[in-house]
Amino acid sequence: GITRHYKFDIVLKNVTRLCHNKSIVTVNGQFPGPRIVAREGDSLLIKVVNHVHNNISIHWHGIRQLQTGWADGPAYVTQCPIQTSQSYVYNFTVVGQRGTLFWHAHISWLRSTIYGPLIILPKRGIPYPFPKPHKEVPIIFGEWWTVDTEAVITQAMQTGGGPNVSDAYTINGLPGPLYNCSAKDTFKLKVKPGKTYLLRLINAALNDELFFSIANHSLTVVEADAVYVKPFETNTIVITPGQTTNVLLNTKAKFPNATFFMAARPYVTGLGTFDNSTVAGILEYESDEFPHKTLSIRKLPLFKPLLPPLNDTSSATNFSNKLRSLASAQFPANVPQKVDKRFFFTVGLGTIPCQHNNQTCQGPNGTMFSASVNNISFALPSTALLQAHFFGQSKGVYSPDFPSSPIFPFNYTGTPPNNTMVSNGTKLVVLPFNTSVELVMQDTSILGAESHPLHLHGFNFFVVGQGFGNFDPNNDPAKFNLDDPVERNTVGIPSGGWVAIRFLADNPGVWFMHCHLEIHTSWGLRMAWVVLDGKLPNQKLHPPPADLPKC
Ligand code: C2O
Repeated sequence: GITRHYKFDIVLKNVTRLCHNKSIVTVNGQFPGPRIVAREGDSLLIKVVNHVHNNISIHWHGIRQLQTGWADGPAYVTQCPIQTSQSYVYNFTVVGQRGTLFWHAHISWLRSTIYGPLIILPKRGIPYPFPKPHKEVPIIFGEWWTVDTEAVITQAMQTGGGPNVSDAYTINGLPGPLYNCSAKDTFKLKVKPGKTYLLRLINAALNDELFFSIANHSLTVVEADAVYVKPFETNTIVITPGQTTNVLLNTKAKFPNATFFMAARPYVTGLGTFDNSTVAGILEYESDEFPHKTLSIRKLPLFKPLLPPLNDTSSATNFSNKLRSLASAQFPANVPQKVDKRFFFTVGLGTIPCQHNNQTCQGPNGTMFSASVNNISFALPSTALLQAHFFGQSKGVYSPDFPSSPIFPFNYTGTPPNNTMVSNGTKLVVLPFNTSVELVMQDTSILGAESHPLHLHGFNFFVVGQGFGNFDPNNDPAKFNLDDPVERNTVGIPSGGWVAIRFLADNPGVWFMHCHLEIHTSWGLRMAWVVLDGKLPNQKLHPPPADLPKC
């Protein structure tokens, strides 16, 4: 591979959406941010220079960061943030991965405006395991507030309530014609008849899973989270924050004399803090015969796609059940067949007492919202976990005693327990190198059943099983798929159900795991794994780079 250099200048930019102008934090003044393109095997050197007053860190979501945990990016986990007028070079090599990923800020709620596609092409001369597309198009979903998002989260955390709902969803930064004052901000994809397009779908929205579809066109799913899957056709895609999905779009053979809507809107279960409206874009056919006569959307009928209802769990489940690893000779699925260590994590929302007396908390029954894994609401330290681990200074920063099962077990899908309280803590699981892990994550349904998109840094995992109700340790494991389960980095824990994953802890470092709904992460739905060095040189975490930011 070669080395590719990028420079990310973090600067403010005035942007107008929905007739409101606001100043946002951006990379290089671009919104969405610049596209990074590399090939499998390449090294990336991305220099981030912070010119704004906010602290910054950038995460390369889905990149495994083998031995290079220092470049992973979550603030206070693998690094201290990059402070005003400081810089940091993220330096990593893309090993054994190709496909669609994305990058985003990983501090506070800055990823609402700091995100962009991260595209890894196969090694030169290696074809895709599907027909070569005529064109490749990144489609990145986001969420837009007309007010400052940092103020939204600060206010939510101070009052103990839910955050203000966003004002729009966006496709490539544009809300589209179904919102007031937004028709000119519409994403338009121009296509030719009879061709195949590869759409690289990325959900960078903060708080919502999305349904996506294109009117009168079916889509063929070929990849999820940068791993090839067995192709299947669908009218609707379900994509959680943190997930990426590649689909093939075959355009109609004849110039159809029409334009078509593409649209996305949320899939919501449980407590929704969501905007229930729809972002739309336009699929516009260009004719070779009439090159100067592109069809105007004003004059022609628009076909609204039929998106499932907001709470359509069966559509969401049908979709995720169809995802299977390609598991071919060239792209095998290396599912861990034996397990060294089993974990059972409860994942969900809860409450904590108000932590201040000067105002009324707006959470349920005057409490504050909280979220936890195994009843622990994870508190970030004021230094970085990875440094504390590497320099043997964990004392006072974290403790290695994260529980392998919940502190308050109960019937997770029946009546909530009396004790919905969680405690704060910075507890980690420590794993010897190459531990084969099986982790079952159960939605607690304490404040209503809700789907949680759990994202693991540093690894891909295999989704070996999932179901509704309580996980049954006596009967469910026998049904696990150990042949061709989908391999990914973010999985939706079904609303009122559970999911089982397996991964091999072959990457030394400290790895964050959290709900990719930003509000749940803020409420504490996060934890971290420490993976110890192995014996061989290529099984050890590299030393930190000299410019690693200090807290
Ligand atoms: Cu996409 Cu920890 O993040």
